[in-house]
Amino acid sequence: MTSYDRENITWHHGSMPPGKRRQLFGQRPCTIWLTGLSGAGKSTLAFALEHALVDLGRACFVLDGDNVRHGLNRNLGFSAADRTENIRRVAEVAKLMNDAGLIVISAFISPFREDRAMAREIIGADRFNEVHVSTPLEVCESRDPKGLYHKARNGEIADFTGISSPYETPDAAQLVLDTSQLDKAAALDRLLGAVLSACRDEA
Ligand code: ADX
Repeated sequence: MTSYDRENITWHHGSMPPGKRRQLFGQRPCTIWLTGLSGAGKSTLAFALEHALVDLGRACFVLDGDNVRHGLNRNLGFSAADRTENIRRVAEVAKLMNDAGLIVISAFISPFREDRAMAREIIGADRFNEVHVSTPLEVCESRDPKGLYHKARNGEIADFTGISSPYETPDAAQLVLDTSQLDKAAALDRLLGAVLSACRDEA
């Protein structure tokens, strides 16, 4: 869209009173942003968290890297520019889902600090909760659930995070979970505690 086109579109404000959706769902919408290497345990934790939240009567949805790349972001690869666009689109979707009242759990490598800062900016700092799934590279590589580290080491995949493309560790994640030190139940317990306090409706 050119800047000329952008001049010709207007934001349409709905008439829904603020707080109405919060009342409907009984929760304050927020986004739990999981970042970490491939194989760190982001998707496993995200889907387990979704299950636990739904069991508690919470309305939530997982946005997962591999899944989103099958549809909305199927035209994107793994260059730095494509990863930035991947994160920008996902952050916009998370924002819309938060606006709709849902808790969003996102599971993306999101390796670049600047891109995570952009996601925070788009979603809103009050709704954005960064969680670093900090499982070390050696452990992720030894797990290699999809055989991708093996392919990356053999030069069959370019720009692979941790091997031939960088991962920038978060400076101030709200929560850090190393799944080589914590079992799934313990990691989930910590995550659930953080989410329930972030989405508590105190209004
Ligand atoms: S991100 O860097 O743009 O945030 P995203 O989380 O969407 O990545 O996708 C990562 C998933 O894509 C990995 O879990 C892995 O299954 C797959 N993948 C394929 N190629 C690559 C690559 N070059 N680097 C990292 N992950 C890759």
